[in-house]
Amino acid sequence: MRQLQLTKEEEKIFEGEMGDAPKLAIRLLYSLGELGEAERLIPIKSAHISGVSYKNVGEGGIQFLKKMMHKVSVPTSLNPLGFDIENGGPVDIDETFHKKQMEIIEIYQKMGVMNSFTCTPYYFYNEPSFGDHISWAESSAIIYVNSLIGARTNRESGPSAMASAIIGKTPDSGLHRDEGRKATVVVNVTEKLDYTRFAALGLFLGPKLNKNIPIIKGQKETKGIELKALSAALSAVSSIPMFHVDGITKETSLVSDSPETINVEKSDIDETISKNSAQEEPELIAIGCPHLSSEELDYVARLVKGKKKVGPDLFLFTSREVKAQSLESVKIIENFGGKVFSDTCMVVSPLSNKYSKTGTNSGKATFYLPLKGYGNQKVAFMGILDLLKWVIG
Ligand code: F3S
Repeated sequence: MRQLQLTKEEEKIFEGEMGDAPKLAIRLLYSLGELGEAERLIPIKSAHISGVSYKNVGEGGIQFLKKMMHKVSVPTSLNPLGFDIENGGPVDIDETFHKKQMEIIEIYQKMGVMNSFTCTPYYFYNEPSFGDHISWAESSAIIYVNSLIGARTNRESGPSAMASAIIGKTPDSGLHRDEGRKATVVVNVTEKLDYTRFAALGLFLGPKLNKNIPIIKGQKETKGIELKALSAALSAVSSIPMFHVDGITKETSLVSDSPETINVEKSDIDETISKNSAQEEPELIAIGCPHLSSEELDYVARLVKGKKKVGPDLFLFTSREVKAQSLESVKIIENFGGKVFSDTCMVVSPLSNKYSKTGTNSGKATFYLPLKGYGNQKVAFMGILDLLKWVIG
């Protein structure tokens, strides 16, 4: 007997009575549910789909999207694509890339997906609440919403989030249940960490944690943007879906009976940063992985206001909505000589069309940008104040 029980209505979809795309979608969810030992599918409040840039999707992905093309049944946001649709950039692209990218966007538009084009849809567009069951792809956002908001999603892929968006349901497994959200490792960090050192903590911890959810102790003064940096770095180097932070996040009572312990020393963070810092001068300073909040844009604007730009290019990445809400800061940054892009990012745009050496404060970008097929960049990983020293005259 099957473990996962479908309702009568779900059985009809499974047998193809509602069409081919819903049939494919529910069969995918069914397989994932069986793997995750779910007994049923549960309704979701929203979905978020990754796999948008033509750079990652490719021709095979376009064919898959065409097969899955069907109206979504819950609010569904979309990750960044390969360029800024309204303003162009961050680098020149060829005609084929542009055409194929717009074909992908058109498919998503026909499905009724929002034109959000951001990995931080939780600021605008798609804001989950505590306890909401959702089905999100984009690993950095998954960790953020599970950990900081207390919404519930497994680490979905682009296709599984799309399947859930079409059906409006997800398997009741893993992170949707209290048991799957328990910390099994206590991480003691005595040093007070800032944004970049939280990103470095993610790079250091991810491989050590394996799949274990950590509860981090010793960071009671932490801010949301610092935990966004941790979310992104952890998401790049591990398959961890969430973390707890003692005194900060909302589900710290969910701890297993006999957790292991990892102690993180200041030297562990120092070594992680120096190991990832290329010494050569970057050609580009790229900030905004994950996409910047208004608060972060304002911070950069305060740092460059009235100053003269020298040296490498300075690119910042955010969502359309955050950019629209922060016009004054955008103006200050652009008057300085920097550029603020929306819809895209340093990793999913074809950066290597122009650059080969990039400086960033993002742990996730530090992991992905050197990889062939992602950026092929030499990366200098450092804090925002050190990055801006390259460009402030
Ligand atoms: Fe977002 Fe691109 Fe980084 S999608 S998390 S800015 S790699």
